Parts: sequence; structure tokens; C-alpha cells
Amino acid sequence: MTPTTEVTHAIKLTERINRIEPSATMAVVAEADKLRSQGVDVVDKDAAVAAIQGNFTKYTAVAGTAELRDAIVQRHAADFASDYRREEVIASVGGKHALFNALQVLVDHDDEVILPVPYWVSFKDIIRYAGGKPVLVETDESRDFALTAEMVLKNVTPRTKMIILNSPSNPSGAVMKPEHMTEIIQMAHERGIWVASDECYVYLNYTGKNFSAGSLQEYKERLVILGSLSKTYAMTGWRLGYALAPSPVVSAMAKLQSQSTSNPTSIVQKAAVAALKGPQQCVEEMRREYIKLRDHVVNGLRAIPGVKCTMPQGAFYAYPNISSFFGKGGVKSASDLAGRLLREAHVAAVPGEGFGTTNHIRVSYATSVGELDRGLERMKTFLAAL
Ligand SMILES: Cc1ncc(COP(=O)(O)O)c(C=O)c1O
Repeated sequence: MTPTTEVTHAIKLTERINRIEPSATMAVVAEADKLRSQGVDVVDKDAAVAAIQGNFTKYTAVAGTAELRDAIVQRHAADFASDYRREEVIASVGGKHALFNALQVLVDHDDEVILPVPYWVSFKDIIRYAGGKPVLVETDESRDFALTAEMVLKNVTPRTKMIILNSPSNPSGAVMKPEHMTEIIQMAHERGIWVASDECYVYLNYTGKNFSAGSLQEYKERLVILGSLSKTYAMTGWRLGYALAPSPVVSAMAKLQSQSTSNPTSIVQKAAVAALKGPQQCVEEMRREYIKLRDHVVNGLRAIPGVKCTMPQGAFYAYPNISSFFGKGGVKSASDLAGRLLREAHVAAVPGEGFGTTNHIRVSYATSVGELDRGLERMKTFLAAL
């Protein structure tokens, strides 16, 4: 019989897992519900049901079925005049998974990865988990968070392995000018630096100039394009994303995927093919709807005394500057303010600290006008009383 021991068995986790923090963006679930556009909803659900009924429920190729990989490259070619082959695309369990795998195969210990601020929370942790070092590049709110090649270049060192771009941006909604993006990619290409372009919101671009780095074919040997069906087709819970990249990178990502998740769910792959190949006007309808919501929320925020807000050009977030309230009513920081907004005014906003800026909160407008009005009213009352 083993004697009982008084020793508490403290669990020692790896240094690796302690390097990162849990994802702070929790509001996506609500966003997703609102996003869903009727047409696609029916199409992808029907395809998934047919997949189940047809017993399409076994393992597929790790990188996704040929049908899905072809559908992804064809959609991208039709929308952005790109020229990828089946071997240059991998389907993963969401865009985040594709990003994670891409960094695991490209970023080594102590490699530097240039990350523009404000950044989507996961970028920093995924870089760290890969062993890399995020090199933050501040952008200027008064210039709409624009990122230029000059700003990036100042931060390039011999250790720079990759530059992460995210246009339209979560959290600022900033959209890079195609010429700025092109200059950065060209500069990176000349130096053998990778560019990972997270284009999960590429179809939610309100500038009228929809642009993917993937159309810059002359630089594709150092480019990784990350895409997702989550926002485009309101399929966040289905978990289907992809990477377009040179075939050796795709093969390495498939190797990693083969030792972790294996293929994305077979049924979901069928639904994804239906979404990608079906009529796309629902995507345009959704985009138009978002422009209205964006205008509504930004006007509402700007009407609150003390709140400043840049005009987001894409995605579905506003990123107001609330620093004029610091020092009022005991508010010390953006997280302070976001915490009190939630507890005292029942308004959910994510504090800017998680995205690398101290003066902002992120407000999602992926909801109804009625909900937005309620939130804006509560926020106005709360802030006025500080
Ligand atoms: C910038 C950005 N990239 C990637 C993702 C991941 O999307 P998914 O994993 O659902 O495809 C998100 C989700 O919020 C995002 O905001």
C-alpha cells in the first residue's frame, strides 16, 4: 500500500506555455451571430447536412481536400487577381490556426517579428510561443494609424525574420493604402524578410479599394496570406481558415498539422466549398450594412463630449480615444474605464492595453442599431457623470 503523502503536487507547466496569455477578445461570439448573412447561411448548412448524409465524415488530406484547396485559390484569384496553385494553399482550423502554424514553421528562437501597434492580441502571443521577439512599431492615431515602409524600415535589423500586416485591422479598423502595403512588401522582399498578411477582414473594406497582398505575384516567394471564412461568411464557429504561401511553407505547415489537428473537419470543408463557390452578393450586402453601422457608431461616439474617434475603414470595430477621462472620477487607465463601463453601465468594450495602446477602448459594431444606441446612451451618461 502506498502511504499518503503530505506533499502537494504543484503542477509545473512548460516555460513555453507560460510565455503567452489567453486570448482577450471574447466578444467574437456575439459578433458572429450578427454577421450571419441569410444566403450563405442556408448554402453552407445545406452542404454540411449533405456531407453528413453522404457519410463524408472520414479523414481527409491533412491540408484539406483538393476540392476545397482549389475553391480557395479560385475564389482568391477571382477576387484579387492572384495566381496560386493547389500546392500553395492549406486549409486549417480557422485563420488563427493557419497563422499559428505559419509562425511555427518560419519563426525561430530570437528571430524578430515586426508588429505594428495597435495589434490584434493573438499576434504577440503567437510570436512569443514560436520563440520570436515582437518588435513593436507605433503608428499615429492622428494619421489614422497608417503604416509606411519608412516606419517599418527603421525597425529592421539583421535578425528581422518577418513583418506582420493586418489590413483591415483589428482593433483600429485602419486599412493600409495599397501603395503602402506594396512598398513594405517590396522592401521586405529585397531583404529576404517574410511578410505575413492577415487578411481575415479583407472583404470588410469600406474604402472601395479592396486589396490583397496576394495580388503582388512578383513578391510571392516571401509572402504568407492568411484568410478565414469566419468573418466573410459569418462562419466563426465552423473553424475554417487558410494560408496561401510558397509550397515548401505549405508542406511544412501540413507536416505540423499532421502531428496536431490533422485535417479541418470534413463536414466543414464541404460547407466551406459551398460558401466559396456560391453566389457572393451576400458578402457585398454585409459590407454595405457594416458601413451604415460604422457611420452610426462613430457619429454616436464623436457626439459624446471628451471622446475622439478615428474613422475606421474596415473590419467592425471603432477604436475611440478616451484618454480625456483619465483622472476623472478615479479613472486611471483604459482598462479601468472598460471595467467600470462593464460593471456600472453594462457596456462591453475591450481596453486598448491588450492591443498595445493605452488611450483607447475597442467597441464592436457587429450588432443592431438599437443595441448600439443603447450602448452609446449608457456610455454617454456614465462618462458625463465621472
Ligand atoms: C486579425 C484577426 N486575425 C485572425 C482572426 C482569427 O479568425 P478565425 O480563427 O476565426 O479564422 C481574427 C479573429 O478575430 C482576427 O481578428
